[in-house]
Amino acid sequence: MADLPILKFEEKIVETVEKNPVVVVIGETGSGKSTQLSQILHRSGYTKSGIIAVTQPRRVAAVSVARRVAHELGVQLGEEVGYAIRFEDRTSDKTIIKYLTDGCLLRESLSNPELNQYSVIILDEAHERSLNTDILLGLMKRLVRMDSSSLKVLITSATLDGGKVSRFFSNCPVLTVPGKLFPVEVLYSRERPKSYIESSLKTALDIHIREPRGDVLIFMTGQDDIEKMVSKLEEKVQSLEEGSCMDALILPLHGSLPPEMQVRVFSPAPSNCRRFIVATNIAETSLTVDGVVYVIDSGYVKQRQYNPSTGMYSLDVVQISRVQADQRAGRAGRTCPGKCYRLYPSAVYHEEFLDATIPEIQRSSLAGTVLYLKSLDLPDINILKFDFLDQPSSESLEDALKQLYLIDAIDENGLITHIGRTMSELPLEPSLSRTLIEANELGCLSQALTVTAMLSAETTLISTRSKNSEKKRKRSSSDLPDGSGWGDHIQLLQIYEKWDRANYDPQWCIDNNLQVRGMMFTKDVRKQLCQILQKIAKGPLDVQSNRRSKEKTDDYKSLRRALCAGYGNQLAERKIHHNGYRTLGYKSQLVQVHPSSVLEMDEDGNMPNYVVYHELIATSRPFMRNVCAVEMSWAIPISRKLEKMDVNKLSGGSSASGEYGPKGDEQLGSPKKEVDISKSPDDHDSRIQAARERFLARKSKK
Ligand code: CDP
Ligand code: MG
Repeated sequence: MADLPILKFEEKIVETVEKNPVVVVIGETGSGKSTQLSQILHRSGYTKSGIIAVTQPRRVAAVSVARRVAHELGVQLGEEVGYAIRFEDRTSDKTIIKYLTDGCLLRESLSNPELNQYSVIILDEAHERSLNTDILLGLMKRLVRMDSSSLKVLITSATLDGGKVSRFFSNCPVLTVPGKLFPVEVLYSRERPKSYIESSLKTALDIHIREPRGDVLIFMTGQDDIEKMVSKLEEKVQSLEEGSCMDALILPLHGSLPPEMQVRVFSPAPSNCRRFIVATNIAETSLTVDGVVYVIDSGYVKQRQYNPSTGMYSLDVVQISRVQADQRAGRAGRTCPGKCYRLYPSAVYHEEFLDATIPEIQRSSLAGTVLYLKSLDLPDINILKFDFLDQPSSESLEDALKQLYLIDAIDENGLITHIGRTMSELPLEPSLSRTLIEANELGCLSQALTVTAMLSAETTLISTRSKNSEKKRKRSSSDLPDGSGWGDHIQLLQIYEKWDRANYDPQWCIDNNLQVRGMMFTKDVRKQLCQILQKIAKGPLDVQSNRRSKEKTDDYKSLRRALCAGYGNQLAERKIHHNGYRTLGYKSQLVQVHPSSVLEMDEDGNMPNYVVYHELIATSRPFMRNVCAVEMSWAIPISRKLEKMDVNKLSGGSSASGEYGPKGDEQLGSPKKEVDISKSPDDHDSRIQAARERFLARKSKK
């Protein structure tokens, strides 16, 4: 630790931060930005006036770096040094250094727009250009401009273009920490391999047999490939002649690995043993693995992309950018000269790769982001003119506005509604938060909470996520509930309820091929969502009654209706002649129910006429994933709203954000049912009061 490059610049860093509100720090991966900057500023007294926050785009990195810093300072994790990620807060009153995901900090800014509990905010890994970090950049720019602000903002990046961020912050200083990278020899393949897994495997074995000691870092595109690679490599290594090479230790590294498995990559290799770390792009810059001398780079990365003109997600394996390729190669030269094996020709690197990765803001759905910006109550924020480092397309902003309008989060003038405001307080995607609000009205909040929690944890629900087990979820319906024909949301509810009846027994999960950790996480998420809702509602909520559905006789009508309101923009109508569905709404297209779905035909052999879906994904064909049957009488009024919709008005309203027009007032004044979870905390009430007074004052002037 003592020789980390950044520590040699301690004085310079402290001096520059003293003199400037915003500083950009650029340093090679492993130079100590994530673990040391917070400690440097702590030593120079910044924790006396507030907490030092360090944001991370990835949950794993937030946890792992916090753990490391707590260890270095010799304190208990969760006390002086803690972390906060969605659905998990390990901080206390004592916390002075807090690692958190960029999404968490955004959420905190809703209840405390000036973020004045913090003396320093470090936006780490800015080069990753995650959607939330990009929004935070815009927000920080506003905050430091305020006269009263004594906030210090640091922005760190591992790549060398700090100029752009510096210009964004009126040419703030850029500190460059020279890395001590050793030379890395880059070896290209003559052509692209047919299978990059086979080619990686062969290269890894060649290194193991021929090259001197040093760990090997292999970049794969995702968890499935990592698992495949780990088992193949294990098999091959075991078949090598005893004593012909040193021992091998093969370790996976990806975002959904259990914590105890993640930390294994940070302990050095035993003597006479070579480690193979098989990782996603998480090992490019987020997590530094020491001891790596050889890197195998397939040249690919898995990227989730959203297409605003179709509303469709795709998870594509795409070529990495040149910046990423260079980062990957750099991992080989941290401790001594290394080698990087690129499984593609140099012409591909020079001619096909993009210079830099496309920022997430230009390939994501912006519904959540736009709702967030609308709820900020900052008088001068105009969504379409928000100061972004890179502007998202107007198409995706409009797409977000339409989505929000269809689920009642904004009105036809683009003003945030009461419902929208409550939605923004929930750490969920807009469709699910809207479902919860409706479920509360319809008296099925408990069921909706379960479904929401199950969907939020779904990535870890099925034991292995291979295609096989997706099908298994359907086939093993003899043991697991099957959604009673109504679809996947209902099945998720029934699974949880069955586990509840089994007293949350871990063995029950194992017997039913469900991941224990995933189910435990669901239970925890459910509990936390309950607590958040109680807080918003400021009173007891009905989250217990109806806790268990009446099996068989229950048609889950209220729940399905609540889902219909939440998925207002994700409705589809059955098309008899097309053997599938057509999505309703402004993006009408033909789609099919995903093969993993448990949605069933009725006695007459017909699929339900109307369904809602959680997600549209483009694989071989456009598929709806997680589908639930709804009724025409619920679906039609929502799609009718489209006729009234005027995008110009929707976006025009944004300039008046923070003000309530007459429309908003009427809504706020309308009588509500007994338990109203959309009722907001005091400060919000007073804001409404103030807005009402402004409105009345304007009215009396006319
Ligand atoms: O952020 P940056 O890439 O500049 O470096 P860092 O994450 O602060 O890492 C500095 C050093 O701490 C590296 O040698 C890492 O291997 C080590 N580290 C660790 O051992 N365990 C962690 N959980 C995080 C970092
Ligand atoms: Mg870092």
